Amino acid sequence: MATEGQTLEQQLEELLDDEKFSPSEDFVEQAVITDPKIYEQGEDYEAFWAERAEALHWDTKWEQVLDWSNPPFAKWFVGGKLNVSYNCLDRHVEAGNGGRVAYHWRGEEGEELDVTYADLHSDVQKFANALKSLGVRKGDVVAVYLPMIPEVAVAMLACARIGAIHNVVFGGFSAESVRERIEFSEAKILITVDGARRKGKTAPIKENVDEVIGDLVDTIVVVKRSDNDAPMKAGRDHWYGELLEAADADCPPEPMDAEDPLYILYTSGSTAKPKGILHTTGGYLTGVAYTHAAVFDLKPEEDIYWCAADVGWVTGHSYIIYGPLANGTTSVMYEGAPDYPGKDIWWEIVERYKVTIMYCAPTAIRACMKWGVEHPASHDLSSLRLLGTVGEPINPKAWLWYWKVVGGGRCPIVDTWWQTETGGVMITTLPALLDAKPGSAGKPLPGIEAAVVDEEGNDAGTEQGYLVLKRPWPSMLRTLYKEDDRFVETYWNKFGKDTYLVGDAARRDEDGYFWIIGRIDDVVNVSGHRLSTAEVESAIVSHGKVAEAAVIGQADEDTGQAITAFVTLEGDLDGTDELIAEIREKVADRIGKFARPKRIIWADDLPKTRSGKIMRRLLRDIAEGRELGDVTTLRDPSVMAQLEGKIKERD
Ligand code: WT7
Repeated sequence: MATEGQTLEQQLEELLDDEKFSPSEDFVEQAVITDPKIYEQGEDYEAFWAERAEALHWDTKWEQVLDWSNPPFAKWFVGGKLNVSYNCLDRHVEAGNGGRVAYHWRGEEGEELDVTYADLHSDVQKFANALKSLGVRKGDVVAVYLPMIPEVAVAMLACARIGAIHNVVFGGFSAESVRERIEFSEAKILITVDGARRKGKTAPIKENVDEVIGDLVDTIVVVKRSDNDAPMKAGRDHWYGELLEAADADCPPEPMDAEDPLYILYTSGSTAKPKGILHTTGGYLTGVAYTHAAVFDLKPEEDIYWCAADVGWVTGHSYIIYGPLANGTTSVMYEGAPDYPGKDIWWEIVERYKVTIMYCAPTAIRACMKWGVEHPASHDLSSLRLLGTVGEPINPKAWLWYWKVVGGGRCPIVDTWWQTETGGVMITTLPALLDAKPGSAGKPLPGIEAAVVDEEGNDAGTEQGYLVLKRPWPSMLRTLYKEDDRFVETYWNKFGKDTYLVGDAARRDEDGYFWIIGRIDDVVNVSGHRLSTAEVESAIVSHGKVAEAAVIGQADEDTGQAITAFVTLEGDLDGTDELIAEIREKVADRIGKFARPKRIIWADDLPKTRSGKIMRRLLRDIAEGRELGDVTTLRDPSVMAQLEGKIKERD
């Protein structure tokens, strides 16, 4: 253990030798789940999940826990009826907790707003009525493109209240991406904002949307967040505030079938076309409510919980909105960036609201490390008692920094592995029951069965292999929206219809702990943001001067992976800095700023197999400065020598 007088660097260096970190006695004493039998109970997984589902309010109880007669199409809680917004709001209000704060909202300029359960309950009913009056019916898709403001929770819950299916698009995506997702999901209505605040500037969101939307939607609802005089089209566009004012106060929740869709969330896959992950009602809510309470050791009356993700990703759906609200949690919702107005804003927020549980991405922790220990050190972080990470593997050094500097050495860290597809956390350490090993996510949660298998589907022992999930689970995706075949093909083909192929490589150690290595498909993880190489390539080649592009995720100290693009130009054009700027701009327009390549390498030609497939493995080797592997299968092996020359020239 570290001693006085050492530098932080020395202390962390020493801690690196510790393989396991046990929760303190104090933590275990106060924890919700302390009986290890829960893992055994999870073996009888249908009974286990049925018991978790009992924690929700059902209008009609289910007849069958799981129908797995037509794998991989699962049905959970068959015949059951419930409403998600009722479970997230009315239940707490009826129990006398309407005055409890649901969100301590914090705006970018330091504005504060406490939104109680009663407030949400009232606004959600009004907005649900407004949606109805705009013609939205059960089963309709509603697109949502909003920043981190309370209205995003209202919009999602209002959809859930009337049985509309929301399709939230992350605010960092470009308007063009929104248009595309509206097209895929056939949404007829969009809920957005006049302007979004980012680091002291206002992005003209509504104007950007207008430029690309054409007559794709019949209705646009606009939340007022700025004074930028957003253009409003008569008959099509409506102010959110005015709708709310005019709406009836009472909107009874629509009893939904357990398997009715709750939402679609587009995520990146192997091809340029994003996948519409479909989540349904009863199983999803069971899964996120349970995992949120269990993994974060939640005490709703006492805890102040802060998930610093964006609602536009699944982390936000499950662990800012649905899990926390189903559990009656008081959360912090923060609008801004981690370094604006100052690099200590996160720690100021922890101190201000006395946050007890904090959940964020390793990439953010690495950024904070870089900014320096003085920022967290200048705030009182003693309210914290549990920390979590999500989105990418965490390097032990960042883990230890989080543990020591943020957690003061007293807070267990839960490294949560999951995906948009799984709906909720699958692999982690239940904090009072399992030791943490920095860099390992831990073990499958009770009720979940994970394995690492080889090419043939046999257990890989402690070797690296394919991560798979072997049983259905309630919060699993049900299909890809309107693409059942792609759903089966992508996840359930390699090892059969009852083995879910995750898309990650992993290793399981002697203690049964899982170590996630990274994606095995052409998905790149930049700062925990998921992108497909194909979609970035397609954005790059949409530039008129580009002939061909190959994109790879290159290992990056700050962002986990960073986008490197190998680009060939039309004719005998030369690559210039100006062209680099144009290409980056093109990617920002087509996808979003976060997808812009960090590095562009001009190439005369790309390494391809005889059948014309680009060999990204070789590009990764060359970009990361490794010895090149086997190049004999290339159509033209001399391409690699040329590329090596180009890279040396630049570096
Ligand atoms: C992919 C899923 C889970 C919500 C945010 C991302 C990677 C996620 C971890 C972790 C190592 C992780 C995986 C996964 N990933 N969590 N704790 N350790 N890798 O959701 O955008 O659907 O991405 O993120 O590669 O497949 P997503």
